[in-house]
Amino acid sequence: MHDVRVAPSILSADFARLGAQVKDVMDAGARVIHVDVMDGHFVPPISIGALIVDALRELVHGRDGVLDVHLMVERPDKFFPRFTSVATSISVHVEAQHDVAETLSRIRSAGCKAGLAISPPTPVERIERFLDLFDILLVLTVNPGFGGQAFIPATLEKVRAGAEWRAKHNLDYHIEVDGGINAATARASREAGADVMVAGTFIFKANDVAGEIASLR
Ligand code: DX5
Ligand code: ZN
Repeated sequence: MHDVRVAPSILSADFARLGAQVKDVMDAGARVIHVDVMDGHFVPPISIGALIVDALRELVHGRDGVLDVHLMVERPDKFFPRFTSVATSISVHVEAQHDVAETLSRIRSAGCKAGLAISPPTPVERIERFLDLFDILLVLTVNPGFGGQAFIPATLEKVRAGAEWRAKHNLDYHIEVDGGINAATARASREAGADVMVAGTFIFKANDVAGEIASLR
């Protein structure tokens, strides 16, 4: 199993001081910055786009960090190329309107790690035929679209299935959990086989950012 990594989700950051907030979490030890891109179609809100990701590039790369882009968009095949020059990993939803296998392989061909994201209502079997085409399985542990929601315990079954398939087929992908992550749900996710803990509210709304990041590890 991979070591645990904590990926602060900037969706819950104070956007008026985004650079300073990213600097804070990186000074506290985080190396993966998770960016939630929403198009107002796949999910109701419009959030962050490529201009913001570009703006964070120097700050994050300069501190040996990486940008982990989560595309909650209806047509990830059309959107992802705009992010390949700055993101290290790009995750697309299995529920979106695209040829999933083709998008994943195009993301890899562009030199990025490819992630496949799955929302809570979708049966985990939907991803089984793509197992060797992704580097990250992104298990949404809340319904996508909003920060600050409660972790859905039933989603741990997907983490377990992903971990079982990973072992059975001798694969090496990361399992990332996203939504409602705090010290307790991070522990449960780890026990189920997850290794990347995405957390927005828990980190950015905390008084002690470094302490919360440490508690997630
Ligand atoms: C949900 C996003 C998450 C979100 C997590 O649509 O994918 O990354 O920011 O936020 P918290 O940690 O507040 O649940
Ligand atoms: Zn996300």
